[in-house]
Amino acid sequence: MQDITLFTFARALHVAGVVLWIGGVAFVTTVLLPALKKRRDAEDKFELFEQLEGRFSLQAKVTTLLTGLTGFYMLDFMQAWDRYLQPQFWWLHLMTAVWVIFTLVLFFLEPLFLHRWFRERALMNSDKAFAVLHRMHKILLAVSVLAVLGAVGGSHGFVF
Ligand code: HEM
Repeated sequence: MQDITLFTFARALHVAGVVLWIGGVAFVTTVLLPALKKRRDAEDKFELFEQLEGRFSLQAKVTTLLTGLTGFYMLDFMQAWDRYLQPQFWWLHLMTAVWVIFTLVLFFLEPLFLHRWFRERALMNSDKAFAVLHRMHKILLAVSVLAVLGAVGGSHGFVF
């Protein structure tokens, strides 16, 4: 396969990864968590959250890996690593920051302690725990959407 075709393919996979990943985060933030917060029974609420978000966790891990691999491949192909030193590529910094945060949470913090920590808090004070969780999701979603807007604009020539 020609290099440029591979690059285009990587870009397509990158965007598909972003859609499945950030789309899932949007669903959890705007649909799942608001619906769960309305449920009264703390244990039932937590069980349902575990079941539903647990299923999304694998999809999030695979798509995070795919997005990172294709993103770094594109940077390498374009020999554009020095963009990290240029403030006008703030959207590249933002994309990478979003990726680093999710990678840390999904692969390290969640399995190591976040999961247990949230379980304890959710069973102690469910309303508060879900409110904090929802706020975190809202912040991450807002930053991710900003990264998408900046990346599409920036990589198609828009000068911010
Ligand atoms: C390790 C992390 C990442 C790296 C290294 C990376 C790198 C890149 C590169 C090099 C491009 C092409 C830029 C150009 O053509 O000038 C790109 C495009 C893009 N990236 Fe990322 N990216 C990463 C993570 C993300 C994340 C987390 C998101 C979403 C929140 C994202 C969304 C996009 C979008 C929407 C495009 C534009 C595609 C297009 O319109 O053609 N990327 N990325």
